[in-house]
Amino acid sequence: MTESDIFEPFERLVEIEITGKRREVPENNTLLRCFQYLSIDTISYGDFCWNGDCANCRIWLEDTAQEKPILACRTKVRERMKIVRVSEELKLSIIR
Ligand code: FES
Repeated sequence: MTESDIFEPFERLVEIEITGKRREVPENNTLLRCFQYLSIDTISYGDFCWNGDCANCRIWLEDTAQEKPILACRTKVRERMKIVRVSEELKLSIIR
């Protein structure tokens, strides 16, 4: 399996913040793909349906008034996204 089999085409990396840590991830991809980019084995073999059913990829974004829950497999990355909380499954997979 090569990178081009996994990720949508991208030309550059964008910076996001995941629970206080700045990381660079491929533009034009869902957040779950971006997490996979950061931790290829744990996300690839983790308990994720990739299609919006399991909610194991739930994350919370910083929003103006409150934290906003979204599904990482259904949401495309945007530059400077600030993720303030992640599901237990993601915690096990990307926070090391
Ligand atoms: S991976 Fe199952 S809902 Fe996102």
